Order: sequence, then C-alpha cells, then structure tokens
Amino acid sequence: MAEEFIYELKGIRKRYVTGNTYVRVLTGKDDAGIDFKLKKGEFAVVTGSSGSGKSTLLNILGLLDTPTFGRMFFKGVQIHSRESGALVSKEASAEDRAELRNSDIGFVFQQHHLLPDFTVLENVSQPAKLHRPGRGFRVASETLCIVALLSSVAFAATALSVRNYYLADGNRVPSGIANLLNVVGIGGAGLFATIFLLLLAYSLYFTLLRRKENIAAGSSVKKRALELLDIVGLKERAHHFPNQLSGGERQRCAIARALMNSPEVLLCDEPAGNLDHENGIKIIDELSRLGRELNKTVVLVTHEKTLIERLESIHPTPVRKWYIESGDLQPT
Ligand SMILES: Nc1ncnc2c1ncn2[C@@H]1O[C@H](COP(=O)(O)OP(=O)(O)OP(=O)(O)O)[C@@H](O)[C@H]1O
Ligand SMILES: [Mg+2]
Repeated sequence: MAEEFIYELKGIRKRYVTGNTYVRVLTGKDDAGIDFKLKKGEFAVVTGSSGSGKSTLLNILGLLDTPTFGRMFFKGVQIHSRESGALVSKEASAEDRAELRNSDIGFVFQQHHLLPDFTVLENVSQPAKLHRPGRGFRVASETLCIVALLSSVAFAATALSVRNYYLADGNRVPSGIANLLNVVGIGGAGLFATIFLLLLAYSLYFTLLRRKENIAAGSSVKKRALELLDIVGLKERAHHFPNQLSGGERQRCAIARALMNSPEVLLCDEPAGNLDHENGIKIIDELSRLGRELNKTVVLVTHEKTLIERLESIHPTPVRKWYIESGDLQPT
C-alpha cells in the first residue's frame, strides 16, 4: 500500500446493530462500501445532510470507531481488514490504535468538550498528560532488562571460572572474591548479582519512564500549550476558565488542545456548528492557516456552504470536497 497516503479506505461499510434493528450508515454504491484516499497536507471537506454518516466517517478516520467491513490503512498501517465479518489479514491491535490516535490524530468535536473546572491552559495541556511513552521506548527499556539478566548469568559464569582457575592452579583465591564465595557460595553470588542487576535495570526503566512522564507534565508542556494558545490568539486568556470564553474562543481552545501532541491529522466535526457566521469564518481561517503553516492534513465536516466557499477562497491548494448521500461518499 502506498505510503504517501495518510488515509486509504477501501470498501468501508458501517452499520449499527441495536437489538434486532440494523442501521446501515455507510454502505457505498450497491453495498460495495466507500473508498477514500487522502495525502499528507491535503485539506478535505465532507458535507451531507443530517444523519447521512459524516460523524460516523470521522470517528472511523479518528480511530474512535471501527467499520463493520472493509479495509483501512492509516499512515501505511493496516487498521481494519474485514470482509464478510471475517478477519482478512492482521489488523492493528486496540493498543496500537490508541497509541496512533493519541500521537497522530487531533480531534475537534462539534461541542468543544472542554473541562469546565480546568483553565484554558490546563485544558490545552491535557492530551500531553495522557501521552504514553512510545513503543520504541518500551522496547528499549525491556531490552535493557533482558541484557541485565544475561549479564548476570555471564557474571555468575565468570565468577565460577575465576574460582576454578585459582583452585586448579593451586593459587590462593584473591581475598575479596574468596570471602564472597566462601560466605554465599558460587550460586549465591550469581543470585545476588542477578537480583542486583535486575533491580538496577528496573530502577533505570522506571526512572526513565517517570522522567518521560515528568517532561510531559512539566514546564515543556506549559511552554507548548502557551505557544499553541498564542497561535490561536488566546494566550492572554490562558488562566481563564471555559465559561469565561465566547463560543468561538472555546472552539479555538479546542483546536489548540487537538494540536497539543503535534498530530499529523486534524479531524474537525462541525467545529463552527454552534457559532455565528463571523466566528465560523474565524475558525475556517484558523484551520486553513494551520493546515498551510504547520502542514497538517485536515478533514473538516461542515454543513455550511458559505464556510466552504470561504475556505476555497483563502486556501492556497485545492480543497478536496466529498459528499455523503444514501450511505455513499463521492467527490464533488
Ligand atoms: N451508536 C449508534 N447506534 C445506532 N445508530 C447510530 C449510532 N450512531 C449513529 N447512528 C445513526 O447513524 C446515522 C448517521 O449518524 P451520524 O452521527 O454519523 O450522522 P451525521 O451525518 O454526522 O449527522 P449530523 O449532521 O446530524 O451530525 C444516524 O441515522 C444515526 O442515528
Ligand atoms: Mg454529526
């Protein structure tokens, strides 16, 4: 599968099952499922009537929901691979999906979902605090523990051969080693060495882990959150609470929060849905600027034609437009 695509969806179908009722939302033409491709840095807009499946599609793109059938790749990783209910080939695990979602996808919901008891700065910082150390870091730490275990076996073997060498030669065993070996024996020395090295490895592992978390929870996060608030024009409001902001300002705060972990993709579900026209335009201008200056791939769901016209008039590259109707997604 080509790496240049951030998203590659083939034959994706989604239906909800409630008791005996099926709600077929994404079906594609003749129930063949929908196809969708998006390259890095592209700006896509999805429109369609209420209930047509826009949020369903966005939730699938955001790895928040799973399709019933079809194949989906995100950044070349196979996320879903299901035909007729059966697994076709290996899919990303739930843990992998959560990791990708947290590190690579920023989501802006129609309702801002800011936490009311936290300041603007704390809300924007929130995703960084959830950021877990990456798989590479965990593999490195676990490898360190295995190396420690192997080293301790090697240590025990060396101690044994040193002792045998001295005893075979009729030489005196050097006093330090002799005392240790006399007291605990070869097996005991090896055991102590193993425990010591394992404790050392684990303390290193947890120190590094904690250090990583501290960095996430510390001053670098605050600095980044303030930079993002500056980008969306809310730096002066960092210590205010969401109920002290206007609707447009809350959405801009939600956009800053979505950018906290520097995701490659920004998915926006009617981010201007509850705003007046003027504030809606400001949000569109902001998204276009972020797409352009930070090279984000953006998928925007909106009903409003005037906002799409505004976007097309200011965005420097062609906007990819899609329409969902009767379960099918088609470019317009
Ligand atoms: N969990 C669910 N269980 C059953 N049906 C659902 C579920 N979630 C969504 N649906 C149905 O799927 C259809 C598509 O919903 P979706 O939220 O994707 O529409 P939408 O295009 O985003 O609509 P809107 O513009 O009103 O936000 C709707 O008919 C909805 O009732
Ligand atoms: Mg919706």
